[in-house]
Amino acid sequence: MEQAAFDLIQPRLGRPSVLSARPHITLTYAQTLDGFIGGPNRTQVLISSKESLVMTHTCRALHSAILVGCQTVRSDNPSLTVRMIPSLPPAHPGGPRRPVQHPTAIVVDSSLSIDPGCNLVQRAKERPLIVLANETALIDRSKREALELAGASVVLVPPMPSNPHRIDLAQAFYRLHQEPFRIDSIMVEGGASIISSVLEQQLADLLIVTIAPKFMGRDGVHVLGSRPAASGEPVADDDASASKRTSGVDGQQLARVQWQPFGIDMVMVGEFVR
Ligand SMILES: NC(=O)c1ccc[n+]([C@@H]2O[C@H](COP(=O)([O-])OP(=O)(O)OC[C@H]3O[C@@H](n4cnc5c(N)ncnc54)[C@H](OP(=O)(O)O)[C@@H]3O)[C@@H](O)[C@H]2O)c1
Repeated sequence: MEQAAFDLIQPRLGRPSVLSARPHITLTYAQTLDGFIGGPNRTQVLISSKESLVMTHTCRALHSAILVGCQTVRSDNPSLTVRMIPSLPPAHPGGPRRPVQHPTAIVVDSSLSIDPGCNLVQRAKERPLIVLANETALIDRSKREALELAGASVVLVPPMPSNPHRIDLAQAFYRLHQEPFRIDSIMVEGGASIISSVLEQQLADLLIVTIAPKFMGRDGVHVLGSRPAASGEPVADDDASASKRTSGVDGQQLARVQWQPFGIDMVMVGEFVR
């Protein structure tokens, strides 16, 4: 399975057009047939099959960093490590298999609200952790000190010009590409708000979507943070600006699209046309 994932993803990374001021950005998520990526009240739901998880972990091993939003850290308490593959396939036919390295973990967290006891912070001395905070937010100095003492790097980033409560991810990616981080590829794994922002700011180069043959069938977290609601029906995202934020998504197109089954799931890979 990891060979199939490697063959699908590796040729799409590091396109010459993005060897520039910012890292290559791969946007990935797993969704149900009805477009949900999380359960009610932002709970974690197992969506991917074992085979598509192998694809996800192969993808992690091929990137320098993995980025998630602070709500995903609260909901899922992820480790964001490479666990489901023992090594990477050879870079060239006949070459040796290569050891996997855990990518740097990046959390978007305006006011440094994540629990210092979460997996990412607890393991920050074993694998790098960068927390992106909003430079205009009121940040408790003790929270910053606790994170740095645990081994994390805190990077202050300006907010989006259109929304002072949201970190400007374009600026963040530019900073992460510079010294001392020199990150050249980032796999953005969610959640819905982060996916919406990356799409709205048109920052992604590659999209990898796992579609599982199941329905959520109840109110959950839609991939774009909100979905058209029937009259009186609650909307999954409590951010009133969610529908506005997704408007920048309209009209974006993918090229070199491939669909490939991984177990019972279907994985779509495509490159954004810019
Ligand atoms: N199926 C999948 O592939 C997958 C993957 C990951 C997560 N999930 C699910 O997704 C759900 C969590 O998604 P979510 O939308 O609630 O949270 P999220 O995207 O993980 O985090 C959103 C938070 O990030 C902070 N933020 C700062 N700048 C931002 C920006 N420019 N754009 C967006 N967010 C910014 C905001 O909090 P502050 O204001 O406090 O900074 C915001 O509330 C959970 O149910 C989780 O299980 C699913």
